[in-house]
Amino acid sequence: MLKEETIIADWSADMYELDETETYDVEFMLSCLGTTPKRILEIACGSGRILVPLANAGHTVAGLDMDEAMLRKIPAKAEGLDNITWRIADVIVDDWGTGYDVVVIAGNFLMNIVSKEGPERAQKVLLEKAKPALKPGGMLYIDYNYTFYPEQWYVHPGERVIWEGTDSHGTSGRMLLCDSTYDGATGLIRSTRRYELKTATGEKIRKEMPSVKHFVKLEQIHTWLAEEGFRIKNEYGDYAGNPISEATGRAIICAVLTEA
Ligand SMILES: C[S@@+](CC[C@H](N)C(=O)[O-])C[C@H]1O[C@@H](n2cnc3c(N)ncnc32)[C@H](O)[C@@H]1O
Repeated sequence: MLKEETIIADWSADMYELDETETYDVEFMLSCLGTTPKRILEIACGSGRILVPLANAGHTVAGLDMDEAMLRKIPAKAEGLDNITWRIADVIVDDWGTGYDVVVIAGNFLMNIVSKEGPERAQKVLLEKAKPALKPGGMLYIDYNYTFYPEQWYVHPGERVIWEGTDSHGTSGRMLLCDSTYDGATGLIRSTRRYELKTATGEKIRKEMPSVKHFVKLEQIHTWLAEEGFRIKNEYGDYAGNPISEATGRAIICAVLTEA
């Protein structure tokens, strides 16, 4: 990795830790999974925000993520646990393993896949790869940002500061999202992510990265799941367990693999 990319990755991992501290999605997930210990694979486990609480709850968990700086946050949180493993992997191209009771694709990862594949194809690949990773009867748990009104959520002219702060290496600055657009015909959300950082030694970094995401409609997920042999067991629109509606902001899907 280039030095600049390493600095951005380290700063981003620290900002994620500082900013993304919610636990209500994990608590809801745990209530859906039940108390019987399960073998769980989390796709894109990041810094272990979800993975570690699943292990603490008694499940045997494995996590995959492509970002070393994020994975490096896990050992300190997982001290004393012998039911947790993680490894670096690109979840679109690398092997997931087999024999899991549950595959988790949460924390809005469905909308944030980094891949050379187009964003829509990458989403479909995730559902295709979940099938051989699961035992027959196993469950795929998906949780992502969902709205009936994507054009209201994703169209933002101008700049928005997403993260701002100083990391453990003394690098300080901010990350902005600029000029977000949404194309209703393709579901594509385009924006530019800009990093403006200054290292502890005074080195300045300004990096712009184009971002293309795909807003996947519920009907499309339903079709993909059916094609892979999944049956939807439960579906929720928020962490209070309400159905998906105009008023809710998530799609939380528990789908059971009915075909081997
Ligand atoms: C928003 S974080 C979510 C982390 C975790 N699931 C959570 O909810 O806290 C997204 C993670 O996806 C990972 N990621 C993105 N594309 C990936 C890919 N193709 N393979 C593996 N990990 C990927 C990033 O490295 C990042 O850690």
